Amino acid sequence: MNVSELRDRFSARFQRTCAVVARAPGRVNLIGEHTDYNDGFVLPIATEQETWVAVAPRKDHAVRAYSTEFDDQRTWPIDGWLADDFPHWTAYVAGVAALLRQRDARLNGFDLLIRSDVPPGGGLSSSAALENAAALALSEMAGISLQPNELIDLSRRAEHDFAGVPCGLMDQSVSLLAEPGCAFLLDCRSREFQHIPCDLGEHVFVVIDSGVRHKLATSEYARRQQECRQAVEYFRRRDTQVRALRDVSLDAVRAHIEQMDPLPARRARHVVSENERTLAAAAALRAADLTQFGRLMIESHRSLRDDYQVSSQELDQLVEIITAVDGVLGARMTGGGFGGCVVALTREASVGRIEQAVRADYDSPPGKAARLHRTHPSRGASVEVSEAT
Ligand code: GLA
Repeated sequence: MNVSELRDRFSARFQRTCAVVARAPGRVNLIGEHTDYNDGFVLPIATEQETWVAVAPRKDHAVRAYSTEFDDQRTWPIDGWLADDFPHWTAYVAGVAALLRQRDARLNGFDLLIRSDVPPGGGLSSSAALENAAALALSEMAGISLQPNELIDLSRRAEHDFAGVPCGLMDQSVSLLAEPGCAFLLDCRSREFQHIPCDLGEHVFVVIDSGVRHKLATSEYARRQQECRQAVEYFRRRDTQVRALRDVSLDAVRAHIEQMDPLPARRARHVVSENERTLAAAAALRAADLTQFGRLMIESHRSLRDDYQVSSQELDQLVEIITAVDGVLGARMTGGGFGGCVVALTREASVGRIEQAVRADYDSPPGKAARLHRTHPSRGASVEVSEAT
């Protein structure tokens, strides 16, 4: 995808030239799952798949938005988007626009075109990519200057309030801030981050799409957050310093596991151990100890499957098939779970064998063969063209 293609599409669609073009990538989380909303650590990368947004201001308060992927154009008043009337993709644009306008009334109506190769609903955070690309493009167009964390918070709020998903801050953060060639280690409490070079040598990260997205994902996600809050309450009654599962040690979880309600106990064991694994994985990556990194991925998957219970039959089967292939160092589900993708760390030379094994042994849902692609850590979001005044 490139700027001139996007400009041409914008002109063809709206019979005018665009003023700003911005782009933002999707993400693959390498490790650190369901830790972000527990003040913990995450280690994702930005994907080469990106969402591009082109915009031009209007004099009135109308929003005209067109999605090339859905071949769908919608119009609504900037302050009057109604969730019930529209399909989902508009929620992200409408949310970002309404929130920006609440901050700064300089944002008027606009024409906006979206072009994306981040598969929607595929677990690679197409939503964060769209939110960030739209937030960057619209703030640039309106001359509203936002600090990176303000932009991340705005995108995340759009996801909460307009798309109804109470997500943490991993997806929007990595999509905005990632550097090419590096994994992004984020402390979700302090919001400090480090770019860790992925020195993979003859290895590569591969993403395998299960082809499944279970409807349960959003309700179960909210339920996990609730169970984590229950676990925090339990530990806070014993230690008033505990604000989040981040403040609980694995020893403390082990010591109390029998006395606690079973579900909060298991959720806590996952989160607390996953934080440890994430820091260990970051250290392994820094030391180019890929064998250790792969081992931690496998442990992470087990913990998500058994303690956090957010995997699915399809993801478990894929992980099993892939880890049995010679040359694979590790594999795990990535993202919120209940479908979506698996990420694997493998010798480059084994990619063909993984493809064969998946084709032969994976019980893919009807009409939805699992798709595989290599993924290289890519750059965070940027404004590519700005003719805004
Ligand atoms: C989704 C959310 C993220 C994070 C992951 C699980 O992708 O958007 O904030 O919680 O699930 O790690």
